[in-house]
Amino acid sequence: MGISRVIFRSDMIHCLICENAPCTAACPHMDPARELRSIWFADENTAAARIPDPVPCADCDAPCEKACIASQGVSIRKLMMKAASLKEPAFLPDPGDDDLLKTDICGIPVRNPFLLSSSVVGSTYDMCARAFEAGWAGAAFKTICLMDIHEASPRFSCIKSDTGSIVAFKNIEQLSDHALVENLDAFRRLKRDYPDHFLLASIMGRNEEEWAYLAEEVEKTGADALELNFSCPNMTKEGTGSDVGQVPELVEKYTRAVKNACSIPVIAKLTPNVTSMSEAALAAYRGGADGIAAINTIKSLMVMDKENFEFSPHVKGKTAVGGLSGETVKPIALRFIAEICEHPEIRNLHISGMGGIETWEDALEFMALGADTVQVTTSVMEYGYRIVEDLCGGLKCFMKLQGIKHVSELTGMSLRMVVDTSEIERDTVIYPKFIHATCIGCERCYVSCRDGGHQAIRPGADRKPILDAKRCVGCHLCVLICPSGSIVSSGIRVKKKCE
Ligand SMILES: Cc1cc2nc3c(=O)[nH]c(=O)nc-3n(C[C@H](O)[C@H](O)[C@H](O)COP(=O)(O)O)c2cc1C
Repeated sequence: MGISRVIFRSDMIHCLICENAPCTAACPHMDPARELRSIWFADENTAAARIPDPVPCADCDAPCEKACIASQGVSIRKLMMKAASLKEPAFLPDPGDDDLLKTDICGIPVRNPFLLSSSVVGSTYDMCARAFEAGWAGAAFKTICLMDIHEASPRFSCIKSDTGSIVAFKNIEQLSDHALVENLDAFRRLKRDYPDHFLLASIMGRNEEEWAYLAEEVEKTGADALELNFSCPNMTKEGTGSDVGQVPELVEKYTRAVKNACSIPVIAKLTPNVTSMSEAALAAYRGGADGIAAINTIKSLMVMDKENFEFSPHVKGKTAVGGLSGETVKPIALRFIAEICEHPEIRNLHISGMGGIETWEDALEFMALGADTVQVTTSVMEYGYRIVEDLCGGLKCFMKLQGIKHVSELTGMSLRMVVDTSEIERDTVIYPKFIHATCIGCERCYVSCRDGGHQAIRPGADRKPILDAKRCVGCHLCVLICPSGSIVSSGIRVKKKCE
C-alpha cells in the first residue's frame, strides 16, 4: 500500500484545492492541481500513475510554486516527487478497471456505487447533468413535494478544522422550492439525455394520497426509483419530515401507499434522530420497501456568536434546530448502517449509506459495514462534483491491490467483526511501545495518562516516557495523543494479572 494519506495531507494543508489552478497554468509538464487534489482525497496512487516518468520536477525551477496563490505556499515539487515515488505497476490504468466498480441498485445497473444524495447538489437538471458528466453514477434529486417551500437566508453554518476544511455542517434547508411540474420535467429530460445514469426521485407527502400521487407522477417521468424522505429534520409541521421517520407505523403506511401506487423500486430514507433504526427499517420492509437509505442529517444547534448570544445560522436574531452533516456525523452513520445491515430481513434490501463521505476510504467503511452504494452531499458542497474522480480512482486502486474483482464483494466485509459490547474479550491487555528515537519529549503522554488515564507513565531525565507496566491498563490513550507518532501498540496481548 502507498504512503498513508496523513503524511501527504499534512504536507499540503495550505493548498486551496483551486479550480482553474494557477499552478497548473504555470506548469509546462503536467496538471499539478489535479495531482494535488488526488493526494488530498486519499487517491495518491492514481496521482502517482499519472505523473510522467521520469518525473520532470527534479530539474524544474517550479513555476507552479511561484504561481501558487495560497498565502503560505505549497511545496508542489516535493509533493509531486513524493507521489511519483509510489508509482507501482498495480496502479497503472487498465482498460478493465472500470468494470471493477460496476454494480446495481435493486437490479438496475450502475457504473459505480457513487450517487449524489438528495439536497441542493442535485436540485436542477443542469446540476445533475454536470454531476453525471463528472462521473457520478446517479443522483437522488432534491426532495419534491406538494407544499409551498420558502427557504431561509442564511441557512447554513459550519465548524472548520485547523486546515480550514469543514468538519461539521448544519443546514435549516427544507425541500425543493421549484414547482412540481418543473421538477418532473427535469426528471423527464435527465432520463432522456442520460438514460444510463440512475435517477432516484426523492419525495415527501403529508398523507397517503399525496405520497401515492407523487409516486405516480414520478414514475411517469421514467425516473429509476423513488426515495421516500421520512427523515428531514427541518420539516416539523403537517406530519412530515423526521417526525414521520420516528414512528414505524407511519413509515409502514406511507411506504405501502407508495408501493401500491407505482412499480419502480422504493427506497426509504431514514432518520438518525432515533435510538435504534431497526424498527423504522423493518416497518419500511413490511410496507414493501426495496431499499433503505441512511442517514439523513442529525438534529443540532451550533456556533454561538459571543457578542449577542446568537446561534447560527440566525435569521433576524433567531435560529432553529437543524440538520448536521459532514465528516463529524460519519461514525454515527456507520453505527446505523451496521445496525440495519446486521438484521437478517433488512440485509436483503438495497442499502445506500451516507453521512460524512469525502474520500473512497470513507465510502469503503460504509460498504464494509453493509452498504451497497453510497451517497454524498456535504463534501460536494465544499469541493464540487470533481471529487468523484478520486472516489472512483482510489477505490479502484485499492481493489486492484487487494485482488477484488467486484465492488459488491466489499459489502459487509467488516460486519462479523462488530459485536455487542458484552462479547468483547476483557481478560488481556496490550501495552504501548515507546519509540525513544523519534520521541520529542513533549510529555503529552505523561499528562494524558496522569489526568485521563492510570498514572502509568513518568518522564525520564531526558523527558522521554517510562512505562510502569503494573499500572498500565493498555487503554492506548498515549498512542492516540502522541503528537510525533512515537508511541505505538506493542501488538503483544498478555493476560491481565489477577488482583
Ligand atoms: C443543504 C442540505 C440540504 C439537504 N436536503 C435534503 C433533501 O431535500 N432531502 C433529503 O432526503 N436529504 C437532504 N439532505 C441530507 C443529505 O441528503 C444527506 O442525507 C446528509 O447531508 C448526510 O450526508 P453528507 O454528510 O454527505 O452531507 C440535505 C443536506 C444538506 C446539507
